[in-house]
This record gives sequence, C-alpha cells and structure tokens, in this order.
Amino acid sequence: MRRTRNFIIYPILLLGLLFFSCTETVIPGSNQLDIELKDAIKATAALVSGEASLDYYVLPDPSDLDAIPQDWDKNPLNPAKVELGKFLFYDTGIAVDAKFESGKNTYSCATCHIPEAGFRPGTFQGIADGGVGYGIRGENRRRNQDYHPDDMDVQDARALSLLNVAFVKNTFWNGQFGANDANIGTEALWNEENGAITNELGFLAIESQNIEGVHVHRMDINKVMADEFGYTALFDEAFPEYPENERYSQTTLALALSSYLRTLMSNEAPFQKWLKGDYSALSFEEKEGALLFFGKANCSTCHYSENLGSNEFHALGVNDMHQIDGFSSSPDDFRNFGRGGFTELESDMYKFKVPGVYNMKDTPFYFHGSSVRSLEDLVDYFNDGVKENPNVPVEAISPKFKPLDLTVEEKAYLVKFLEYSLRDPNLKRYKPETIGSGLCFPNADLQSQVDLGCY
Ligand code: HEC
Ligand code: HEC
Repeated sequence: MRRTRNFIIYPILLLGLLFFSCTETVIPGSNQLDIELKDAIKATAALVSGEASLDYYVLPDPSDLDAIPQDWDKNPLNPAKVELGKFLFYDTGIAVDAKFESGKNTYSCATCHIPEAGFRPGTFQGIADGGVGYGIRGENRRRNQDYHPDDMDVQDARALSLLNVAFVKNTFWNGQFGANDANIGTEALWNEENGAITNELGFLAIESQNIEGVHVHRMDINKVMADEFGYTALFDEAFPEYPENERYSQTTLALALSSYLRTLMSNEAPFQKWLKGDYSALSFEEKEGALLFFGKANCSTCHYSENLGSNEFHALGVNDMHQIDGFSSSPDDFRNFGRGGFTELESDMYKFKVPGVYNMKDTPFYFHGSSVRSLEDLVDYFNDGVKENPNVPVEAISPKFKPLDLTVEEKAYLVKFLEYSLRDPNLKRYKPETIGSGLCFPNADLQSQVDLGCY
C-alpha cells in the first residue's frame, strides 16, 4: 500500500517541481540576450521612474482611455471626443479659412501628419494650404502656383510625429506649449507672436497647441457645418458641458483633435510585443541594436521616456530648414534657435526637444531641419558626434552628444532596431473609412484627388 502511494506521489511531486522551475526561470524563446536586454531596459526605467520594470515602456492600448495620459481636469477623454477627432483630423471640409479660393477645402491636419508616413509629412517640409498633390504617402506634395511662398501654410521646421504624443509634456521642438513642466516660470514669454498665448487657458500642452493650431492651419467649424457634415450628435455627446452656443467652435474642434491624438499609440510595434513577453518578436540583430540603444550607444541617456523621447532639450548642431531651401524659411526664424528661440536664454540656444523615435522608417527625413535622409546616416551622425551646422557654436553642443566608436556591425544593428523593432506596421487603423464632408481626404486639391483615387 505505502509503496504504491509513494510510487504515485513522487513522480507527481517531481513533475510539479519541474513545472514550477520551468515557469520560474526558463521562459520559452528567451535566451541570454533577452535577459541582458531586460536588465539594460530595467536599469533605464529605474533611473526614470524609480521602478526597475519593463512595464514603464509598455504603451497603453488605444481603446483603454483611462490608461492614456490626459488632461483629467479640462479635457478628459471620452469615446465620442476621440471618434469626432478621428474624423476632423482628416476632414478637408473644415479647411475653410484658406488664403486663396483655390486652396479652400483642400487640406487637413493629416496633410502634414500622414499615418502612412508615421504621422509626419511625406516631404521634408509639410505644406497644407498652398500645396497640391499627394503621391502615395504624401511624397508628391508641392507648391500651388497660385500661392507665393509667404502665403503658404508651411513652418520653418519639419513636422514632428504625433505617435505617442500623449507622453509629450511640452509640445513643439522648442517645447513652448503647455503651462506645465518645463514651462513653469516662462509665463512672461507667452504671446500672440509665438502663439504660446494659449498656455494662459490652463490646458495641457497638446490642447493648448491645437487651440492655436486650428487657427494657424486655417480651419474652422460652426453649427451649420457640423449639421451639414453630420457631426452634431458627436459634438453633443462629446461636449455636453459646453453651452450650445460654444459647443461647435474652434476650441471644441481643438479639444476633439487633441483627444484623438492622445490615442495614437505605436502599441503594435515588435518592440512592444517583446516587452510583453513575445521573445520571438525581435530578431537577433534587433535585440543587439536594442541593447546598444539602452547601453553602449548612449541613446537612452536622452531618449528615455515612454515614447523613447524626453522633455530634455539638447543641441546636436544639425542644419536648419533654410539651409536646405525650405519654403518661406529664413536664418532669422525663431525656430532655428530651438528652446532659446522661445526662452531667449543664452543657455537654451540651439537646444531642441528630444523627439520620440517610433516609426522613423516611414519617411526618410530626420531632425528639425530634415537635414538627414536615412537612418544609416542618422546613426553615423550620432556615432561621429560632430555638429554639421556652422551657425551653432561648439560650446552650445550637448555634452551627451559625443563620438561613440561603434563598429560597422553595431551601427547596422542599431539601424535594424530603429527600422523594424520600433515600427508599428498597422497605423492605418487610426484612419477613418470616410469623413463627414464626403470630400477627398487627407487632401482634396485636383492632383491629390487623382493620386488618392477620389476621382
Ligand atoms: C503645414 C503642416 C502642418 C499642418 C497642416 C499641421 N501640422 Fe502639426 N506640426 C507641424 C510642424 C512643422 C510641427 C512642429 C513645429 C515646431 O515644433 O516648431 C507640428 C507639431 C505638431 C504637434 C506637436 C508634437 C510634439 O511632439 O511636440 C502637434 C500636437 C500637432 N502638430 C498637431 C496638429 C494638428 C491637430 C493639426 C491640425 C489642426 C496639425 N498639427 C496640422 C506641421 C503641421
Ligand atoms: C544628447 C541627447 C541625445 C542623445 C544621446 C541621442 N539623441 Fe537622438 N535626438 C536628440 C535630439 C535633441 C534630437 C532632435 C535634434 C534636432 O532635430 O535638432 C534627436 C533626434 C533623433 C532622431 C530623429 C527624430 C526625428 O523626428 O527626426 C532619431 C531617430 C534619434 N534621435 C535617434 C537616436 C539614437 C539612435 C541615438 C543613439 C545613437 C540617439 N538618438 C542619441 C537627442 C539625443
């Protein structure tokens, strides 16, 4: 009797032990490289958040609105706002304040922030009002001959990506938007000329910027338009607390756009899958690249926030838009001076915000002046650690920007990590199927209509 019981019990115990030891230490598909990479990422997360956990870099699911950073006080997310913003971001019907008749109803926010281009323009400089053409991913956008360059809606800097923008504390390359974080104490500098005057409304950065943005990008909405495009019910559901005479306005337009933007997460990128335990999501080369990013290549000393950017400002001495002949660009534009163009402090001159780096492969234009045109060249720029812009004094260059001594192989690994691990291949999910006005989108000039198959 006794013997038989042991005969049964021992193997069960043994199996149990094996099972537990399996789940405890040997995770399927994980190897030494995964363990090393986890340690490196956890060490960075610990420095930033105080907690040595991979979870810090796991982006929320866009449908989990409560998990998304937002302005709980003045623009809490709700599904109606997000849905409304998703239409309005693309709707050429609201492009009614064009400079000339031929520009009217031809552009949208997505003209310069194209999902297929990683929410950036398809060309080195975004052109909304005053541009024509689309191509396949915005790469054939050019000047509308009716417009003088000074009449075009163009900026003296490349459009930033909007992916994971919910994690950006102060928006713009110079961080001028938002009354929060880096801008505490800058109140005297908020004015009509730089547009930061909207910070006085007390919203967080994205909302503050977009209230200015819809005006700058020549868009508007009112009750008549909302009715005509079928958006009235969504406005009512999204903004019940606004009295009816204020509910269909540039402000609520901006708040709906902001809500939609906050849901733009690159949560389907392979690196995200790896963080969540799918160790086969990255190749050997990509893992080596990630290890470099969080280690020897120093990238994470600046790119350490959830979006792999940060709210730090640094001078890398890259060229400005006027040095590559951008439209309506000038050596005197305040945008060339980065944070210093806003704060007017000598110590902030030529320092730009550390941008997020997901979906960089989608358009080949990098840095605020689009001066670098491939990820290989970008990695070379960081590896060499030498400024390219003669106007930026050597003393202004960030002490964290210095030669890296990476081997040819290591540079290739780093490029692979940027190209594939950090690329969400399914950004199309953020695009609406149709828009309320029924016009072509994201552009609707004649050439774009042909390019986009609206004709
Ligand atoms: C003409 C092209 C263009 C259009 C149209 C455009 N943007 Fe932008 N966007 C830019 C540029 C350029 C920047 C960076 C400007 C800077 O920092 O100096 C930017 C930056 C942003 C940022 C800040 C991102 C960050 O990380 O700091 C947000 C948010 C944004 N745009 C939202 C919008 C919304 C919403 C619309 C529509 C109302 C819009 N944009 C239309 C060109 C454009
Ligand atoms: C000193 C801080 C710092 C370090 C270190 C650093 N970066 Fe950056 N990175 C920045 C800043 C600031 C910018 C924007 C500079 C500009 O446009 O003027 C930037 C821009 C980028 C961009 C282009 C983003 C865009 O929207 O154009 C990529 C990609 C990038 N960095 C990747 C890396 C990689 C890879 C490394 C490591 C080899 C690295 N960075 C190291 C601060 C840093």
